[in-house]
Amino acid sequence: MSDFIMVLDEGTTSTRAMLFDSAGKLHHVAQRELEQHYPRPGWVEHDASEIWDKTLACVRDVTEQAGGADRISCIGITNQRETVVAWDKTTGEPLCKAIVWQDRRTEPSCQELRQAGHEGDVQARTGLLLDPYFSGTKMRWMLENEPAVRAAAEMGTLAFGTIESWLIFKLSGGAHISDASNASRTLLLELGGALFDPALCELFGVPHAALPEVVDNAGEVAVASAEWLGREIPITGLAGDQQSATIGQACLSPGETKSTYGTGAFVLTNKGGEIPRSTNRLLGTVLYQINDQRTYALEGSVFVAGSLIQWLRDSLGIVEVASQTEELARSIPDSGGVTIVPALSGLGAPHWQAEARGVINGLSFSTGKAELARAALEAMAHQTHDLAMAFAADGTPWETLRIDGGMSANNWMAQDLADMLDLTVERPEFVETTALGTAMLAAAGAGIYADLNEAATALRGNLQSFTPAMDSDVREGRLAAWKKALIAA
Ligand code: G3P
Repeated sequence: MSDFIMVLDEGTTSTRAMLFDSAGKLHHVAQRELEQHYPRPGWVEHDASEIWDKTLACVRDVTEQAGGADRISCIGITNQRETVVAWDKTTGEPLCKAIVWQDRRTEPSCQELRQAGHEGDVQARTGLLLDPYFSGTKMRWMLENEPAVRAAAEMGTLAFGTIESWLIFKLSGGAHISDASNASRTLLLELGGALFDPALCELFGVPHAALPEVVDNAGEVAVASAEWLGREIPITGLAGDQQSATIGQACLSPGETKSTYGTGAFVLTNKGGEIPRSTNRLLGTVLYQINDQRTYALEGSVFVAGSLIQWLRDSLGIVEVASQTEELARSIPDSGGVTIVPALSGLGAPHWQAEARGVINGLSFSTGKAELARAALEAMAHQTHDLAMAFAADGTPWETLRIDGGMSANNWMAQDLADMLDLTVERPEFVETTALGTAMLAAAGAGIYADLNEAATALRGNLQSFTPAMDSDVREGRLAAWKKALIAA
């Protein structure tokens, strides 16, 4: 009996395969960590072969746990967005290391394009800004600096893609496609355009022929070859991880908003069929496309969230496990005047300063582990507050905020968010909403449910609420200290 929906959740630091039933219950998981390559300050790379090998290993593990491929009805894929893989269509092998979304190396070409006056037009067409975060300038960098990529472009065998595109190519044995939510992060897709735009490709120096076909987020978009699991399995759902989490939180009506605290923090508000236009440095993005109809979102992308806690753990040794930060934060009444600006890979929305770097303000001899851990957690609410201001200024104030992601399990942080935003914060009992959103898409795409709304109703779980309880002068004091520290970043 085919009763499981397999979701491949390809994150920045790990790859996972998960099996959900059609009521949204998670039955089996396999996970592998991914190696992060930092060849120079500000550069972040992945090995695309490692991603594929480890994804396949996870796929095989969960299939075995489930008792065989006959138990799997369909596959959904969700992924770290913007990261670019270049491969050869004939050999199926990567031509260089993948350049990760966090990588800042293309700031000079972004600056060049900004100085030449292109940002307004690019933003109006793509919803994005000229920042190294997005895929377009990463592709151009590969063409200019990786001889194998250039040679493949000349031979007509070059394939560019984001991670879902790479995995589908490998799983299907040659389909070259990308879903609209991932395609909308490249700088090469007009928000209202069906295909990658030739004029944008020319501006960014990317050969149109190397790009995938843009497809829906739900429906049978490809088939995983029988070579991997002994039988063909349809791939029926795809989404960039932040769009997927928005769906997983059932933010399916205009105005509904979620914030995911993973490696970075990403807030998306559903804007329905209206193409979002920001005048406050937020992004317009495709939330999903079904039957060629698009639903859009306004997005605020913060580059450092959980990765700050990882840094406290791995580089400074302040905690042994991330969850200890909660106990440390609760052990003191305030951060003792310490404020952290987590600009370890520049600042994203709404500041967009690629060259900014991290700041720890207010150190004294009484500063210890607890103050640093608390200041690190407080930085999440400060960064989210900056986004709340920008969303409100764009005419999209949040009524409540639905949070998820690994870090949202921290109850102290969830309450601090409610306090600092002066807003009810809701957290699902099951915080793996990124994978759940893709299970919803894949279930709708496979016809298990009539549409996405029905799938979301069936798969979504219960919520827990955090209500604000902070004095406004405490909030104002923290925000003033944050503003001061930001100036130094
Ligand atoms: O845009 C980058 C985003 O997709 C990365 O997500 O889950 O690795 O923080 P995550």
